[in-house]
Amino acid sequence: MTTHDTPPEGIRRKTLLKAALLALPVPLLIGALPSVAEGTTPHGQPLTPTPFCDDGDHVTPAQTEGPYFKPNSPLRTSLLEPGTVGTRLTVTGYVFGLACTPIPNALMDFWQCDNGGVYDNAGNGFRGHQFTDAMGRFTLTTIVPGLYPGRTRHIHVKVQAPGRGVLTTQLYFPNEPRNASDTIFDPVLVMNVTQVGSAKNGTFDFLLNVPQNPPTSAPPTTRPPTSAPPTTAPPTTRPPTSAPPQGTWRAGVAYATGAQVSYNGLNYRCLQGHTSMVGWEPPNVPALWQRV
Ligand SMILES: [Fe+2]
Repeated sequence: MTTHDTPPEGIRRKTLLKAALLALPVPLLIGALPSVAEGTTPHGQPLTPTPFCDDGDHVTPAQTEGPYFKPNSPLRTSLLEPGTVGTRLTVTGYVFGLACTPIPNALMDFWQCDNGGVYDNAGNGFRGHQFTDAMGRFTLTTIVPGLYPGRTRHIHVKVQAPGRGVLTTQLYFPNEPRNASDTIFDPVLVMNVTQVGSAKNGTFDFLLNVPQNPPTSAPPTTRPPTSAPPTTAPPTTRPPTSAPPQGTWRAGVAYATGAQVSYNGLNYRCLQGHTSMVGWEPPNVPALWQRV
């Protein structure tokens, strides 16, 4: 059974952000996020694009490095080793710059204590660095860190966009009793954590103080559909609900990379995991669907 911890309000907003990002086609993620919020004033003047990831939060705050950082951690996304004890934890998320464009190849260096609250200061246990992928995403496979005196549960991380400064900070867990008494704890840095079987999944998106040139506009074919039906839609003889597309593709489905669907007699393979939406039918978004 899956249960959910209750995150603070601000964290739930981050969750919405990520859900929206996961639903965006690749071209939007790479270069056109701010255009989502574009519009015009009553006088027809273009509004300044509102960064898509600006949900009221500011850049991810820095926190103390603490006494246990070591340079030259191994390159690895999983900190698990044979015999590792502890509750399995997978942390995923994005790294953004100030224009809310995901940052590929950002260096992320994680370190944490073990299940018993002990840091490996002699070796590289529970230490590892990785780079965000082409979509600005990261995945860390580890365990829920233990507790040690004076601190609440946390994971240390350094995040660095290519050629930019290093953000040193920490990630926290919701509903931890010690969150209230840890003077370093910052609720802005709490992950959204869900229980999945015997393991936990955490999500967190970093917003770095890194200037970016906002993209001007997205090609028309890559714009997401608005929530309202287009007024210029051709009339149909039957309500849309009774005229589903011919084939297996459906809106509102979380398609994984490699998934195959048919649409109007043609077969397609999913190139990028996403949640499908009306307007993003396979023929319309070649960045997401490839003819096979
Ligand atoms: Fe620590």
